[in-house]
Amino acid sequence: MTHAYISGTGFYVPPEVVSNEVLREKYGIDTTHEWIVQRTGIEERRFAAAGVGTSDLALHASRDAIERAGLTPRDLDMILLATLSPDHAFPGSGVYLQEKLGLCTGDSPKFVPALDIRNQCSGFVYGLATASSMVESGRCKHVLLVGAETHSAALDLSTDGRTISSLFGDGAGAVVVSATEEDRGIRGWYLGADGRHADVLSQKVWDIKQRPFIPLNEQGVGQVQPSHMWAHMDGKLVFRNAVERMIGALMQACMDQNLTRDDIDLFFFHQANMRINQYVAQQIGLPEDKVVHNIQRYGNTTAATIPILLAEAERSGRLKRGMKIAMVAFGSGFTWGSVIADW
Ligand code: UT7
Repeated sequence: MTHAYISGTGFYVPPEVVSNEVLREKYGIDTTHEWIVQRTGIEERRFAAAGVGTSDLALHASRDAIERAGLTPRDLDMILLATLSPDHAFPGSGVYLQEKLGLCTGDSPKFVPALDIRNQCSGFVYGLATASSMVESGRCKHVLLVGAETHSAALDLSTDGRTISSLFGDGAGAVVVSATEEDRGIRGWYLGADGRHADVLSQKVWDIKQRPFIPLNEQGVGQVQPSHMWAHMDGKLVFRNAVERMIGALMQACMDQNLTRDDIDLFFFHQANMRINQYVAQQIGLPEDKVVHNIQRYGNTTAATIPILLAEAERSGRLKRGMKIAMVAFGSGFTWGSVIADW
């Protein structure tokens, strides 16, 4: 039987470190390091420079993952790219990444399928479910799955936007999902969505019901209201649902696999808020040393949080071959999911 396992991990964060103090001093946001750390656990995040887009961040992370899998881009059979901050409205960033990986040029171009996933914070777990299904079905041997975000371009970096702009950062994480006949890899996944809450965490920079979709001024120039440029969120409702859905998704994936929480060696939770993850861990009774965090350093990088966590944990030796791990995410939509894997 063919199994799907993660054969390589990679990550990239842009070099500019933006501390909570920088949000205050450089951008003039009325906030404090203490407020942000106490409510979210975030100490700093990374911002990409102007001119750098999501497919650029994805490229660095992808090269890292492909190399660590012992492969070259030409070994790939498919590209999945999860993002809520694509380079453009269309096409998806996956095709830009494909071209940047050099797959479309040279003596033997490889026009592998490229698919963008629009599932915000749960994009990576949705992608892992898709990639593993492609591999287990025998259709693909190696699928590149990337989560990448350039949030800094779309944050209201003023006091008005402080609730959201203090949370998010830029970065990319990638994995290669490969076929193996060994008894290891992705054991199961569980996904869910609740469209009743679609507007609770959203960014409506355009409205396709309008004619045209962005209003024009008298000179025929498109005008976007500043309030439409930024994400909107009912933070408390998101927080409550995140806790409930993450616990539910984790329990469901464990039940499906006939596992208890004690069978899992490491937990990789989406990094939206340290308090959410601590609450989830506390409710389920997880020992602190089994839950991996990096939100302190990167903030919420949406689709990139879990693959960055995996890559860092592997580099540091914390994530080892043979471990049983659980990944859990929740985000805008609302959408959520969990994956259990034997590393
Ligand atoms: O990936 C999924 C994405 N999002 C999430 O998971 C986020 C889930 N929600 C949360 O993490 C929390 O709701 C937040 C951390 C975003 C906010 O915490 P909160 O305890 O719900 O605060 P709040 O929005 O109710 O705001 C409380 C006060 C407000 O001031 P007033 O109206 O009481 O005077 C805010 O204006 O805190 C103020 N505030 C800030 N103060 C300093 C909001 N953001 C900041 C800030 N610095 N950065």
